[in-house]
Amino acid sequence: MQEKIQKYLEEVRSFAISGATELEEFRLKYLGRKGILPELFNSFKDVPNDRKRETGLLLNDLKNKVEEKINALKSSLVDPAETKHEALDLTRPVDHLQAGSRHPLSIVRNQIIDIFSRIGFTVMEDREIEDDWHNFTALNFPEEHPARDMQDTFFIEKHPDIALRTHTSSVQIRSMEKFKPPIRMIFPGRVFRNEVISARAHCIFHQVEGLYVDKNVSFADLKQTLLYFGKEMFGDKTEIRLRPSYFPFTEPSGELDVSCNICGGAGCNICKYTGWVEILGCGMVDPAVLENCHIDSSIYTGFAFGMGIERTTMLKYQIRDLRLFFENDLRFLKQFRSAI
Ligand code: DAH
Repeated sequence: MQEKIQKYLEEVRSFAISGATELEEFRLKYLGRKGILPELFNSFKDVPNDRKRETGLLLNDLKNKVEEKINALKSSLVDPAETKHEALDLTRPVDHLQAGSRHPLSIVRNQIIDIFSRIGFTVMEDREIEDDWHNFTALNFPEEHPARDMQDTFFIEKHPDIALRTHTSSVQIRSMEKFKPPIRMIFPGRVFRNEVISARAHCIFHQVEGLYVDKNVSFADLKQTLLYFGKEMFGDKTEIRLRPSYFPFTEPSGELDVSCNICGGAGCNICKYTGWVEILGCGMVDPAVLENCHIDSSIYTGFAFGMGIERTTMLKYQIRDLRLFFENDLRFLKQFRSAI
């Protein structure tokens, strides 16, 4: 057997080819199912014990040589002229990659986070499926009170206590249960209301909630914070005004208008010729809400606000139909490029 292997080794060493067919024949001859190597390995069991070691080494050597030979011949078969040509064609245009872009709602959400983080607000997110306590009761919505009808809630039929959150105010409660004051946070997230879909409303949309609880937080702090936000978001010339309003969880409550960034206050169809557009609800956190979260309202006060991301984005980019945000039409989405 050893002699046989030596003979094959010699054959492999001197083997030369002129084309791919010969190489394939060679491969089959040695490595094919009934080829020389499988046959040799098969008859290895008949080799007397005292010769097994030597024969085994030789046999492995043959196998390696065959494989090396095949690989070497294979690479020599590739036309060298062709490879050279391909590797050196530096004039070939690059494959055109279509770069994606962020969704306008993500851009504005990130801008809001960025603006508030510069004045010390941190971000917290929480669940979209909420219980009655966090979405309503702790926020001072009394049971059976008509204020609950302000928001068309998606309840879970089998669990009247569970609902899709109707606002991100629920995360105010979650944060106050979790942290001790000072709390200075914003809560971005998705909210759900049973609304008929139109150019101005959708059953799924996004809000950012803000909360600041500490000793001596005043209405003046709220106003200054919102003025800063308005200028950062809509431009340096932006002015704000507050109108009195009602929310169960804030007292006093207000709605914030910013001067129309499109006509600069002169009047246009976006601001309905008033010069002002409403962007958020806000107020001083009702002491009852603080107490619901075991925060001593004789020591601490706070302000809160909540804004719609869709609405802010529409104002910022002059988008007139809210449904565009959800249709994934590339012609619309392609227009938004941002570093954030
Ligand atoms: N949660 C209110 C809504 O969804 C918005 C809001 C108003 C949030 C006043 C607040 C606030 O934090 O103080 O309409």
